[in-house]
Amino acid sequence: MALKKLVAGNWKMHGLASDLAEVRLIAEAARGYSGVDVALCVPAILIERAARAVPDFAIGGQDVHHEPKGAHTGCTSAQMLLDAGAVLTIVGHSERREAQRESDAEVQSKAHAALECGLNVILCVGESLEVRESGRAVDTVLAQLDGSIPHEPTEEAELAIAYEPIWAIGTGKIPTTEEIGEMHAAIRGRLHERYGAAGSGVRILYGGSVKASNAGEIFAIADVDGALVGGASLKAADFIPIVAAAATVEG
Ligand code: 13P
Repeated sequence: MALKKLVAGNWKMHGLASDLAEVRLIAEAARGYSGVDVALCVPAILIERAARAVPDFAIGGQDVHHEPKGAHTGCTSAQMLLDAGAVLTIVGHSERREAQRESDAEVQSKAHAALECGLNVILCVGESLEVRESGRAVDTVLAQLDGSIPHEPTEEAELAIAYEPIWAIGTGKIPTTEEIGEMHAAIRGRLHERYGAAGSGVRILYGGSVKASNAGEIFAIADVDGALVGGASLKAADFIPIVAAAATVEG
């Protein structure tokens, strides 16, 4: 049985109070697609206002600290995200793995902290262009997965994996359908090894230059259970057609 698709937007460092109108448009339009889960991960400072603006819609964060509280200037805990109205968070995005030098172990502790609090997690993995060209993409991503996913499946909240090849993010380039299919099948295999039957229930999203024109093809690939969308999630006019594509794909 195919899993219900999840289409999540990652607004990265975009979004001011004036963009709440767009959040409202997206939430309103998403209501027409009950067969798809839709979420927006907005900048931390916008979470509370977004969650108040669209109370029935899933608003998320983009990162979380692994400690519940303490002397961590500029950081946000899972409890704080929940308190602000978030129901999910991204962890381990490649932009943070690179710019903030986040290790697999750190990403894993962030995922644990969020899941234990009841915050759903989208955990990102993905290879560089150099790794892809060297033929080591699958091994590299599986090693990242081994190092960063929680030891055991959690009951408190949902874990999803986002496969985001770094070279496909914001570039307009995407892997072939065979490459996406191969990677998602490998991730599914690893999830089964780690979690047994529960591995079948973990949604595996694809991310990297997803837009309306390629979404249908991507969603039709086996074990693609949704998408994590950057640039094309900022405007309802770009994002909702992606949600619509997820709704029309035969599972
Ligand atoms: P783009 O959709 O802009 O390529 O970004 C993908 C991404 O990084 C989502 O987390």
